[in-house]
Amino acid sequence: MTPFLFVTDLDNTLVGDRAALETLNERLSRHRYDWGSKIVYATGRSLFLYRQLITEQPLLRPDALICSVGTAIYPDPQREAIDSKWAQVLSQGWDRDTIVAIGGTYSELSPQPPSEQGDFKVSYYLPQDVADKVIPQLESSLTEKGLEIQIVYSGGHDLDILPIQGNKGLAVQFLRKKWGFYRHNTVVCGDSGNDIALFSVEELRGIIVGNAMPELQQWYRDNSDRDLYFARSRCSGGILEGLQHFGFLT
Ligand code: GLC
Ligand code: MG
Repeated sequence: MTPFLFVTDLDNTLVGDRAALETLNERLSRHRYDWGSKIVYATGRSLFLYRQLITEQPLLRPDALICSVGTAIYPDPQREAIDSKWAQVLSQGWDRDTIVAIGGTYSELSPQPPSEQGDFKVSYYLPQDVADKVIPQLESSLTEKGLEIQIVYSGGHDLDILPIQGNKGLAVQFLRKKWGFYRHNTVVCGDSGNDIALFSVEELRGIIVGNAMPELQQWYRDNSDRDLYFARSRCSGGILEGLQHFGFLT
């Protein structure tokens, strides 16, 4: 067995089937103890909402935590301190005030709560039925001002505006290089739009859980050349299936 870097989204990926989560936890914590594998959570949640989740769910302590859709890395999830090198990468060309001002001109966008607004993340709710119309317009208004951003739409309601240099996938690359894991020894798991960035990093092993959202299913169909595993089971059950498929677990 070789150590691997295990990266997973939380809501509706790791979390959602408690019995399977408990089995997976046992397998992963043993692998970490025996072989030095590392566990990373890559969530859309802020640290505040992550801390809420760990009071409700039996989650293992991760070796690092990626919050706010890749825009904050916490090297030690017990502490508030972010990775300042990653923050420096994200700050290049990022102009939060201008983004908020432009976002405010769209009546279809309603701001998410203050806890979910980050130094490098501006978040709204946007109904699915107007998303196809609004997202391209918003994107042009922002890029016409010379802003280098990306828009991530997830679950048919959440819209995040992020720096071009930062998303879940790029944050994983940052940690992978820092710890020296090969791409083929890195596995990423997800269920929704903000996880597409995880699956877009070339040569990582990818597990899409069986309950994936339509936007991720669509992306999977459009990117069928990639070596991704689409699980039959939901949530942690699908992750277990995928880890066995790739030979990370027996
Ligand atoms: C989480 C975050 C929210 C974000 C969503 C999708 O729910 O709390 O701010 O929009 O993930 O990325
Ligand atoms: Mg999710």
